Amino acid sequence: MAHHPHESHGDQPSPGPGRTPGPADGHGQDHGHRHGHGHDTDIDWAEMAPHLEAQAELFTPLYERALSWLGKEVTEPGLIVDVGSGPGVVACLFAEIFSGARVTAVDGSAPLLERARQRADRLGHGDRFDTLAGELPHVLAELDYPADLLWAGRSLHHLGDQRAALAAFAERLAPGGTLAIMEGGLPPRFLPRDLGFGRPGLEARLDVLQEEWFARMRADLPGSVGETEDWAGLLGAAGLRHVRTRSFLLDLPAPASDRARAYIAASLSRLRDVFGDTLGDDDRAVLDRLLDPGDAAGVHRRADVFVLAAHTVHTAVKPVR
Ligand SMILES: C[S@@+](CC[C@H](N)C(=O)[O-])C[C@H]1O[C@@H](n2cnc3c(N)ncnc32)[C@H](O)[C@@H]1O
Repeated sequence: MAHHPHESHGDQPSPGPGRTPGPADGHGQDHGHRHGHGHDTDIDWAEMAPHLEAQAELFTPLYERALSWLGKEVTEPGLIVDVGSGPGVVACLFAEIFSGARVTAVDGSAPLLERARQRADRLGHGDRFDTLAGELPHVLAELDYPADLLWAGRSLHHLGDQRAALAAFAERLAPGGTLAIMEGGLPPRFLPRDLGFGRPGLEARLDVLQEEWFARMRADLPGSVGETEDWAGLLGAAGLRHVRTRSFLLDLPAPASDRARAYIAASLSRLRDVFGDTLGDDDRAVLDRLLDPGDAAGVHRRADVFVLAAHTVHTAVKPVR
């Protein structure tokens, strides 16, 4: 998927149609456009729902810090728009932390938005929560009001023309409104460099494969435009000012909780699915051992697994004319 295997970009690759029996992209099915066209970078967003949810739930301490930092920059927003919200874990955190705001979750995948809706209702935010389904960035024209805070968490890099998308995001901001994008950071780490078996440095080798996958994913997007990832420069080019950047850490040290272990196992299993054929026999065997629930050296049982990740948020403000 684009959920990319990992998350220096925030996601992990998902096995596309070329890799697994699953069909592509819920997103394409919903809107008659596919992420790719039978490429190994196709993403089935609806199929990703449980993983996206588990990931955002595990990363909640990071999001809480990021949102409270945003809260110091954006006082009492009336409307917050979460662009590419997925299943709405973060959109619901916005509703919780900004308790006076309405939140609109926007996404191309109707099944993911349905999960967001159910989550908002379950958490008691339903009366301040809306969803809007459609292709980004064009669907933003359907918003009833300009946004005081527009958040795009790990979604911008799934759009072919990121410069045009940022301009469209800026267009939908109220004067004085803030655009916040979460892009970049560091690849996550789950394992010691030397596992006690296999060749040290497995995760660094997986990073290289994921970077190559990410480049293919971007190139396969409809309307793909190559762009230097100078986020501050791109925000400025969209007419925004006062760019600020900050990174947030998720540090879940060993011994990992059951929830963290499940996330680690799911992430490595996706990597095994997507890159199993590309990895050398030695690394593939190591991954198989790590994923074997019966193996004391596997991630389900070993004492030294952890989650260490960093995500970067870039903010900028629309000038009041
Ligand atoms: C990596 S997920 C991020 C989800 C959520 N923001 C999070 O951080 O957990 C990217 C989201 O963008 C949505 N998306 C990707 N491309 C899209 C497009 N062209 N139009 C609308 N939504 C899109 C996907 O459906 C998915 O929910």
